[in-house]
Amino acid sequence: MSEKEETKQISRRQFLRNAGIVVGGTAVGSSFLLSACGGEEVTKTVTKTVNVTTATPKFVCPYDSQEFDTFAALQAHVEANHSAGDPITVNKFVSPYDGAEFDTLEQLKAHLDANFMSQGEPGVVSFLVNGKPVTVKVEDYWTLDFVLRDRLALYGTKVGCGVGQCGACTVLVDGVPTFACLTLGIEIAGKSIETIESLSDGTNLSPLQQKFYDNEAFQCGFCTSGFMMAAKALLAENPNPTVDEVREAVAGHICTCGNLKNTVATIAGGV
Ligand code: FES
Repeated sequence: MSEKEETKQISRRQFLRNAGIVVGGTAVGSSFLLSACGGEEVTKTVTKTVNVTTATPKFVCPYDSQEFDTFAALQAHVEANHSAGDPITVNKFVSPYDGAEFDTLEQLKAHLDANFMSQGEPGVVSFLVNGKPVTVKVEDYWTLDFVLRDRLALYGTKVGCGVGQCGACTVLVDGVPTFACLTLGIEIAGKSIETIESLSDGTNLSPLQQKFYDNEAFQCGFCTSGFMMAAKALLAENPNPTVDEVREAVAGHICTCGNLKNTVATIAGGV
């Protein structure tokens, strides 16, 4: 349990979690304009101490005390860094789920297999991100945008509203445009996720990115990755969409800069 004091700003994730609502999102402003019963406007600044529970169970290496999110990670570490005959001098191998202690990694694995891992390691999801296999330990309330940004450092996916109303967080899940803010990490096991990072090869812009650039199809750019992922899905099915077809495809996206007309015109006709 760690304690974190936040002044003037609380995160939507923490707020909803404290309220018992297990969905996530991003930070919201701290000042709420409240309408009193008599119509009087009151500006209220929230100062709140939030107790953040760090409940993710950790697997601890008994040789060097390094911590790992998954048994598989612990196993890989032990096999790479410690020989099987090394004596355990301080701790034993401990099951983070029930505290049971074992002398060997094999005994721990047998215990986990028998009691906790019949349907896979609890909370561990494996999926593809931009074609690469990843395995991540997730809490059941973590949203996909949190997994991508905070666990996999894929910061190209932006989070605007956090409640499925702006489209900024759009990624492709098995090729389908999906709001990452409304998708739980535990839902994506076995699926293929494509983010904005999949478009470029790291050096050259993709044709879609180049067309956005050439046509100045963005202003601040915050909504652009969401628009581009929706456009990628549209163009995969319809390489030469009309303006009306583009409008329908990006109907769930908002550009608060007011550049929507130019963005739609850029996607129309394909790349
Ligand atoms: Fe997901 Fe706005 S951040 S729809």
